[in-house]
Amino acid sequence: MEGTIFSCVILGLAVMVGVVTPGVDAARAFFVFGDSLVDNGNNNYLATTARADLPPYGIDYPTHRPTGRFSNGLNIPDLISEAIGSEPTLPYLDPELNGENLLVGANFASAGIGILNDTGIQFINIIRIFQQLQLFQQYQQRVAALIGEEQAQQLVSNALVLITLGGNDFVNNYYLVPFSARSRQFSLPDYVVYLISEYRNILARLYELGARRVLVTGTGPLGCVPSELAQRSRNGECVAELQRAAALFNPQLVQMVSSLNNEIGSNVFIAANAQQMSSNFISNPRAFGFVTSKVACCGQGRYNGLGLCTVASNLCPNRDVYAFWDAFHPSERANRFIVREILTGDTRYMYPMNLSTIMALDTRT
Ligand SMILES: *[C@@H]1O[C@H](CO)[C@@H](O)[C@H](O)[C@H]1NC(C)=O
Ligand SMILES: *[C@@H]1O[C@H](CO)[C@@H](O)[C@H](O)[C@H]1NC(C)=O
Repeated sequence: MEGTIFSCVILGLAVMVGVVTPGVDAARAFFVFGDSLVDNGNNNYLATTARADLPPYGIDYPTHRPTGRFSNGLNIPDLISEAIGSEPTLPYLDPELNGENLLVGANFASAGIGILNDTGIQFINIIRIFQQLQLFQQYQQRVAALIGEEQAQQLVSNALVLITLGGNDFVNNYYLVPFSARSRQFSLPDYVVYLISEYRNILARLYELGARRVLVTGTGPLGCVPSELAQRSRNGECVAELQRAAALFNPQLVQMVSSLNNEIGSNVFIAANAQQMSSNFISNPRAFGFVTSKVACCGQGRYNGLGLCTVASNLCPNRDVYAFWDAFHPSERANRFIVREILTGDTRYMYPMNLSTIMALDTRT
């Protein structure tokens, strides 16, 4: 029974690829790993408080309903899918991620996680990065059962991958409480070196699992998010200590990515500097059509930066004029500015090259 359904699916695909797009690959698969900046809803299937499953999350999403994305509308992976001509990635835990849907790719990200296993422990049941990589392995077995081992491998090696880690290792670990275990163990510079060495192991594992084009993002402007302004800023200036953390982390990420590429002998990994991308609209919001980059659209307290975004929160009428949707996450419109730099930014933003260059390169070979 199951076998018959599968062979029908395979036959259908062969016809589609052969007839509709002769000689051209179907849209490239896309895989996403990381934290809440890129989670498309996995946490909705988990017993955790780190969820965006209630209104007003999703208020500007096509369905106007919450989906688990930490955004008023689309998030960064959605906008990358749009740019490469693919459907949005389904969360790996979504029961609809089955059959032909598997060939679009999958989103393994889980809000609250970090590079380290002890990051986000307060969220209890979330998919830590080593588990995300295990699920990627499981995914590949499922796809191999559907289209064959060789085709599955090709799908993965031709795919685009996005991995976003690091922010939570600061805000939900090192700086979560005064005198946290990690801050007693490491000075900030030593902690950053440790994080980068663990991030390198994670990327090496992704390579082992067959990934060949990987966008790697570090932390955003940690000290400028409304949550930090609310808790630590005196008069609205970005919090220096967290800005220092991001300023140490992001350049070392670029170095690590370069050395990994040198070792492999190919530009598999591309560093995307999310701090740089966001700092433009944070330091000059009006030039980007935002009325503020300090106050979150949804929240309460100073800068709307305290607590969670819920139905009871203040909600701005026009989400497009706020750089931050909630206390931590950019609005859809801010995400569009970030993805614009991913696509066309110069080497200050995308090292060694941007996504439009990658797409041009990869269709030529
Ligand atoms: C996280 O835990 C897994 C499973 O116990 C382990 O394999 C991995 O090395 C740990 N990662 C770090 C950074 O300690
Ligand atoms: C990025 O993209 C732009 C426009 O697509 C291109 O002109 C530029 O050379 C690219 N830069 C890099 C560093 O890849």
